[in-house]
Amino acid sequence: MRQKIIMDVDTGIDDALAMLYLLASSEAEIVAIASTAGNVPAAQVAANNLGLLDLCRAPEIEVALGAAAPLAVPLRTTEDTHGPQGVGYAEFPPSPRALSERSAARMWVDLVREHPGEIVGLCTGPLTNLALALRLEPELPRMLKRLVVMGGTFGHPGNTTPTNEWNVHVDPEAWKEVFDAFAAAPADRRPLVCGLNVTETIEMYPEHLPRLAERAESIPVQEVSVDDTPGTRSKASNPIVRFVTDAVRFYFEFHRAYDQGYLAHMHDPFAAAVALDPGLAVTRPATVDVELTGAITRGATIADWAGMWGREPNADIVIGTDPAQFFDRLIARVGDYARAVYPPA
Ligand code: BDR
Ligand code: CA
Repeated sequence: MRQKIIMDVDTGIDDALAMLYLLASSEAEIVAIASTAGNVPAAQVAANNLGLLDLCRAPEIEVALGAAAPLAVPLRTTEDTHGPQGVGYAEFPPSPRALSERSAARMWVDLVREHPGEIVGLCTGPLTNLALALRLEPELPRMLKRLVVMGGTFGHPGNTTPTNEWNVHVDPEAWKEVFDAFAAAPADRRPLVCGLNVTETIEMYPEHLPRLAERAESIPVQEVSVDDTPGTRSKASNPIVRFVTDAVRFYFEFHRAYDQGYLAHMHDPFAAAVALDPGLAVTRPATVDVELTGAITRGATIADWAGMWGREPNADIVIGTDPAQFFDRLIARVGDYARAVYPPA
């Protein structure tokens, strides 16, 4: 039995790689994809999700459109991080696939009710749609097999403000509603939270891309270098390798522009890997809450590790992993998948 997964994404360069990771994993069944406004507007996220399924010649998978804006504040997007369409220098042609007729929140609720205890939710964007789904079905925390989220930061600086991680910063009210709702989840169904404290250790370097191309038998095996003209486009024979290279090059350039080096943090693919294999992550339980009123800290995620608030833990926070093991898996899975979808001539 493959693991049923609902993805909720704001695709997004690293969200796209998270989708590729799951599509490439034989033990995963993506039952549906919710498109959440975040890195780019929701309609662009949905177009990217459909485009990626086309690129992968994937079977039909329901893709639903999410709310256009966060629960309580205007939408903020970040094309400077993810490119004009959200997938770096890559582009998708218009998709012949149709979007779902139901909203992302409705889809979450319907599918979890149809398969109680069976679905893992993987959220790699703002939690707007999951919060809306919880308003429709407050029992979701007891009905999901597990929830894995990428967001927040714990004992580590933010990437959007000194205290805030992007996904929470976009919709703090939604994250608070989700963490509050999961206080009702049994201990073995607490959300696994992949924050920046761990995902910023998941550093993709230029050397990873030739490894992917070789595994996929894509030619020529091109190096991506800090000395390349920005925006250089891939000539890889394999369209999936070409996509990954064009998308990730933009992410390398973004990280370099912010003095982090010519590398890219693979936040969302790591969360995808944890969703399939929680054993990849060392975790620690805590009670998590979201600051909504601080003049300079609104959107900060606060973990009470010691029970000082007198509230039961509502999250298992990821505090460690082995990045090399993750990259070996990512390259092996996506490389083999790319070769299978587009066999070498
Ligand atoms: C998160 O923000 C987004 O830009 C990425 O896709 C990731 O989900 C990291 O803070
Ligand atoms: Ca994301």
